[in-house]
Amino acid sequence: MDIDRANMKTTREFWDSNPCGVHTDFEAQKNQRYAMEPWLPGQLERLASGHRSILEVGCGQGVDSIVICRSMQAGGTYVGIDYSGASIGVASANATRFEADLPVVPSYRVGDAENLPFGDATFDAVYSMGVIHHTADPAKAVSEVHRVLKDGGKAYILLYRRPSLKVGAAKGLRVVQQGVDSLLGTERSIYKALRKRGSHSRLFGTMFLECFGVPYMYWYNRSEIERLFAGFSSVSLKIFGPNFGRLSGGGEGETRFGYFWWVEATR
Ligand SMILES: C[S@@+](CC[C@H](N)C(=O)[O-])C[C@H]1O[C@@H](n2cnc3c(N)ncnc32)[C@H](O)[C@@H]1O
Repeated sequence: MDIDRANMKTTREFWDSNPCGVHTDFEAQKNQRYAMEPWLPGQLERLASGHRSILEVGCGQGVDSIVICRSMQAGGTYVGIDYSGASIGVASANATRFEADLPVVPSYRVGDAENLPFGDATFDAVYSMGVIHHTADPAKAVSEVHRVLKDGGKAYILLYRRPSLKVGAAKGLRVVQQGVDSLLGTERSIYKALRKRGSHSRLFGTMFLECFGVPYMYWYNRSEIERLFAGFSSVSLKIFGPNFGRLSGGGEGETRFGYFWWVEATR
């Protein structure tokens, strides 16, 4: 299948204008993020403590990188890459505030998930949250994760789940926007209107802008995920989701209402 990468330029422009999480202040970002995903810090501590070299693909503004580096053993390495230079700028600036207290000092660089700027078999682990479903060719990105992992290395990848309420609603809203666009002869009309109003929510961050503004938004059912990760020697899948209080079952995040697949795959 021919992959249309034409919208990767718009992808970069989108995330440069709307870095994930909106706030550039680290504490505000962290509070917003972990209020939405209270299960995440525990999962990050678990994955970080088990590996000596970790690559994060699509680190955004780097909130998770600080939790990861805090949980790694001294002497390890962490590298975060992101397609958005603006996000990498914020991540680097934020990290300088914490470096002195971290066992592992994070490093960041601009890079493309579909063409990772690292040699084969470089990392013990690769973590990526909410990124690979936003790139033009997710299968290429997954093959790159596989390539840069050492034998026996682990990938921890979060991808949008099909069906799920949140992503289904977003897909529906995107169809509405397409309708408005074709009526008015415009392009991403609702996104542009939201941007004009400076519209982002304290609670939901860039979620609505993302819904209308990102060029690529894939979602996957179980067998599609299994096909995507077929090159790995083993794959386990869990479903994670937002904090709906008691409904989500104790804040651990595993829930049948979840919109993320938590994929753990061993090379
Ligand atoms: C929803 S944000 C997630 C950021 C971060 N992982 C988090 O959870 O806060 C998606 C991120 O993916 C990045 N991204 C999109 N396509 C990418 C690609 N091909 N390579 C690297 N990063 C990419 C964007 O720049 C953006 O920072």
